[in-house]
Amino acid sequence: MRLTLTRKRQVAAGICSFELVDPQGRALPAFTAGAHIDVNAGPGLVRQYSLCNSPSDRHRYVIGVLRDANSRGGSVALHGLEEGAEIEVGEPRNHFALSEAGHSLLIAGGIGVTPLLCMAEQLAADGGSFELHYCSRSPDHAAFLDRLSEPDLASRTRLYHDSAPEDQRIDLARLLSAPAPDRHLYVCGPAGFIDLVLDRAREAGWAPSQLHREYFSAPVVETSGDQPFQIELASTGRRIEVAPGQSVIQALSVAGVDILTSCEQGVCGTCLTRVVAGEPDHRDAYLTDDEKAAGDVFLPCCSRSRSPVLVVDL
Ligand code: FES
Repeated sequence: MRLTLTRKRQVAAGICSFELVDPQGRALPAFTAGAHIDVNAGPGLVRQYSLCNSPSDRHRYVIGVLRDANSRGGSVALHGLEEGAEIEVGEPRNHFALSEAGHSLLIAGGIGVTPLLCMAEQLAADGGSFELHYCSRSPDHAAFLDRLSEPDLASRTRLYHDSAPEDQRIDLARLLSAPAPDRHLYVCGPAGFIDLVLDRAREAGWAPSQLHREYFSAPVVETSGDQPFQIELASTGRRIEVAPGQSVIQALSVAGVDILTSCEQGVCGTCLTRVVAGEPDHRDAYLTDDEKAAGDVFLPCCSRSRSPVLVVDL
């Protein structure tokens, strides 16, 4: 869809919200809390951004974007847009939906507040039991404070800042100490933040089915020990060499085999490919631990192979 940027607003230091509407005013495809859209920020710059407005808004999508000068350029390009610009986006998809729960514990780090804000408002509207814990670098870096201070959210929201004294920072051990079966945990933010929260939750006894996370980038992986391997196309038996430092997608492309990609960093799931034989070396942030252990699918934009040959359903 080509949508029009009707409103761009600074909502915190380095963070702008973007309101996108259909140029003819038509209703947009529906979404649920926690959904994201692919945004085409320029050639080779398709990025995923969570929708942070209410799913009952049928005529607009709102995203929050942190300008990250060290990223691959998507956020910088978006921050350079002016109101009235046209932006190409994909239909909403949701890998981070709310589950039925007696109580929902929402933990946000930085820009990870965007899907959790939408989920908190949805839970408040539905009369659900929840609490939102939002960590940011400083008060100036905390976004959407106007919405968070609405009565429905204010009493159930706690803000923390890295700049505050130690005893005012988030206490994960205390927060995660009661993993009752009807409690679900949702976490979003930088990869290191998500991993820390999930590690603490597992240590405290939370079951995998109670843990939900949304990454915007895959965790950094040590690549110095990468070995070459071969991809075998199950349909023809043809084998293609993948060199260290080369992704499976790149190797296949050189050989004339193209796979649809979007994020190219293991977070969106677009390139999901079935594995017929061999052992994938999963490096994505998309598959669950159970899916990774099953080993029957992998994400060739970032993942590799532990076995010398990986046979894929291509
Ligand atoms: Fe997004 Fe591979 S292209 S996970």
